[in-house]
Amino acid sequence: MKFSLSTKSVTEDNTHCLMVPVVSGKRLPAVTAALDRASGGSISAAIKAGDISTSHGKTLLLRSLPGIASERVLLVGCGKPDNLEPSQFVTILQAAGQAVKSLGCTNATCWLTTLKVTKRDQQWNLAMAVQTFSRSAYSFNELKSTKKPVARLKRIALCIDNATPAAKKIARRTLGIHTAIAAGVELARNLGNRPGNVCTPVYLAAQAKTLAKELDLKIDILNEQRMDELGMGSLLSVGRGSREESRLIVLEYSGAKTSVRPTVLVGKGVTFDAGGISLKPASGMEEMKYDMCGAASVLGTIKAAAIAKLPVNVVGIIPAVENMPDGLANKPGDVVTSMSGKTIEIINTDAEGRLILADALTYAERYNPAVVIDIATLTGAALVALGHHVSGLLGNDQQLVDALLTAGLESHDRVWQLPMLDEYQQQLKSNIADISNVGGRTAGTVTAACFLSRFAEKQRWAHLDIAGTAWVSGKNKDATGRPVPLLTQFLINSITKH
Ligand code: BES
Ligand code: MN
Ligand code: ZN
Repeated sequence: MKFSLSTKSVTEDNTHCLMVPVVSGKRLPAVTAALDRASGGSISAAIKAGDISTSHGKTLLLRSLPGIASERVLLVGCGKPDNLEPSQFVTILQAAGQAVKSLGCTNATCWLTTLKVTKRDQQWNLAMAVQTFSRSAYSFNELKSTKKPVARLKRIALCIDNATPAAKKIARRTLGIHTAIAAGVELARNLGNRPGNVCTPVYLAAQAKTLAKELDLKIDILNEQRMDELGMGSLLSVGRGSREESRLIVLEYSGAKTSVRPTVLVGKGVTFDAGGISLKPASGMEEMKYDMCGAASVLGTIKAAAIAKLPVNVVGIIPAVENMPDGLANKPGDVVTSMSGKTIEIINTDAEGRLILADALTYAERYNPAVVIDIATLTGAALVALGHHVSGLLGNDQQLVDALLTAGLESHDRVWQLPMLDEYQQQLKSNIADISNVGGRTAGTVTAACFLSRFAEKQRWAHLDIAGTAWVSGKNKDATGRPVPLLTQFLINSITKH
C-alpha cells in the first residue's frame, strides 16, 4: 500500500473513493458539507432518509453523485462532533478500511485524518491511518492452491488540515516512518502465520539472513555446537526433543554511532510448542505455531528501523527452538545448567519459553546494552489476566517501564504493567536446584517474569508478555504483528535521549 498527502480539493478529486465523516447533530463536518453543496444536497438527503447512522464505524456508500469528480463517496459515522477518543478514531479507520477493501477501487482519498482526536495531534492521525489501512489490506493466502484475489486498493491519499509547506514536510516524514512500521508488521504477521512445518528454527534463521542481505545488517547465526561451547544448557535442553535443530539468531542494525549503546530486543522463537513431555491438550494446539511471535516482532522491528533509517542501534537476539515430546526431551524433575551458571529444576516442560530466554538474556550482556527488552508469548495466564487488548509489561527499571507505557499509548499498541514484587520470587524456590521453572498456580505471568529477572540482574530490563495480543484465535486465526508498532515507537522516542 502506498500513501501520499492529498493536495486536491474534495469536489475535484477524481479518486475512486472519497472517505468522509458524518457526525450526529445538524452540522456536517466542513469537507462533507462541501460535497453536500456541490452535489445538490445528496448527502443531507441520505441522512434525512435515515440511510446512515452516525455511530462510530457505520458506513454508507454513495455512487455517482452529481457535481463530484470522484466515482464513490464513503460516508463514515464518527459519533458526536468534537469529541473523539483515540480508540474510537481507530475503530472508524478500521471500518473505512474494511469497507473500501470490498470495493473495486485501486485508489482512494481519506478525509477522516482531518478529524480532531482528544489529546492527539495531526501526525498521530496520519500514523494510525497508515497502520490501520495497511493492516486491513493484509491477507495470508500463500498456502492456498488457488489464490484469492489480492487487495485491489493500492494507493491512499491522506488529507491534513494545516497544509503549510512545513506541515507537509513533517507529515511526509510521518508517512515514511509508519509505512516502514507497516512493512515490519507485515513481516511479523507472515512469519507468525506460517505453520510449524514451514517456519522452523532453521527457517527463521534463513529469513533473518535474507533480511540482513536486503537491509545491509550484521548477522550471526549460532548453531547447537556453538551454543554448547557457551554453556547454554537451558536453551539447548528445550530443542533436544525435536528433530529440528535449534539456532540462536543475532541480528544487528547500526543507525547511530558505535559509541551509542544498543537497545537489545530478545524474542521468544518457539516455532512450535507441543509442551514437550508435559504435553498440551489437543484442542487448539495448532495455534502454538504462533509461539515464535516474539521472535517475529524483533525481526519486524529491526526491519522497520532499518527502512526508516532511524538513528539508533538495535541488536535482536532470537533463541529459536521447537518444543516436542521425545525420548531425548526434558523430563519433569530434570535439572539443567544455564549459561549464567544457575541451575534450573524443570518442573513443567511446557514452561519452555523462560528456559530459552534465560540463556538469551545472559548472552545479551556482551552487547553492553542501554536496555534489554524481551518479547514472548510466555504465559496463558497473561490471556486470563489481560485478554487481547493489552500486552503484559514487567521490568526491573521503572523508567524503562514508563517509556514503554508511553510508547504504547502513542502507537496505540498498548501495554499494562503488572507488579513484580520481591514476594513473588519465593514461588520459584526449588529444594533441588537454584530455581524452579514454574511458580505454582497463581500469578503465572508475574512468576514467569520473576524467573526471567534472575537472568537480567545486571541489566535495565523489561519483559513483554504478548500471549494475548500476538495473534487472533479461532477459525479466523491471524497474527497481528504486535508489538512491532510499540517497539518501533519506543526506539523513535529513545533518539532524543542521546
Ligand atoms: N507458549 C505457552 C504460553 C501460551 C499459552 C501462550 C496459550 C498463548 C496461549 C508457554 O510456553 C506455556 O506453555 N506456558 C505455560 C506455563 C506453565 C506451565 C507454568 C502456561 O501458560 O500454561
Ligand atoms: Mn509451553
Ligand atoms: Zn511456549
